[in-house]
Amino acid sequence: MSTAMQEDKRKVTTHRLREMKDRGERISMLTAYDYSMASIIDQAGMDVILVGDSASNVMAGNITTLPMTIDQIIYHGTSVMKGVKRSLVVVDMPFGTCSGNPMKSLEAAIRIMRETGADTLKIEGGEEIVEDIKKIIGAGIPVMGHLGLMPQSINKYGTYTVRAKEKEEAEKLISDALLLEKIGCYGIVLEKIPADLAAEITSKLSIPTIGIGAGGGVDGQVLVMHDMLGINKNFSPKFLRRYEDLNTVITNAVKNYIADIKSRDFPNENESY
Ligand code: KIV
Repeated sequence: MSTAMQEDKRKVTTHRLREMKDRGERISMLTAYDYSMASIIDQAGMDVILVGDSASNVMAGNITTLPMTIDQIIYHGTSVMKGVKRSLVVVDMPFGTCSGNPMKSLEAAIRIMRETGADTLKIEGGEEIVEDIKKIIGAGIPVMGHLGLMPQSINKYGTYTVRAKEKEEAEKLISDALLLEKIGCYGIVLEKIPADLAAEITSKLSIPTIGIGAGGGVDGQVLVMHDMLGINKNFSPKFLRRYEDLNTVITNAVKNYIADIKSRDFPNENESY
């Protein structure tokens, strides 16, 4: 990373993401769900922080993202916003809050934006919910789309395997991506699709694409924080690069703490009043 990029303290906006695509600068995006982690990630220079409904999995211990409620995402979004100065903050619209009733979707979107103070929303889905997304964008709320593997539709797929390997689904994905750009989405997450397809979509769009398991031909990358920091040991998809083994780091620290209590080493004189 160049020094100029590291020192760029300006707030990231949707407009700046578009400029990054235009000049070929890759966009960095990572999830966060709480104040402390969001503040570390923001200060480390992340372009985009996603308050993902993956909080349902990594924070609440659910198997899917479906149980996430609007109140819960607002709680996470509000906490994250308090820690962020520079990154663009995107909050997920939870399952069932944007699904074919544009007025209700708009109400939910306004509530999330108003109560969290977030910069933008992310919505899973294409053609089927185009009227909902149009309504939300029409109210001045920037929307990032999400296509390919959409975890909120896991019960429809029945599997977390790579999407759009077949021609029909790939063609639908391309047409959904073009549609989302046409109605004004400022970016699109492409999850778990073949790298060639993701690169083709990226070249057809003037808005940025952010990939997760979509290869290197997209405009940016997103990962779930707990996965890339190695907090989750049981999740090892091919696309995941682990940058730390925090599970081991934390386990060792906790074990040392327990041992120090048991041996009466903690607290010592310096740690007492
Ligand atoms: O909820 C989430 O974390 C997401 C990412 C996987 C893109 O949507």
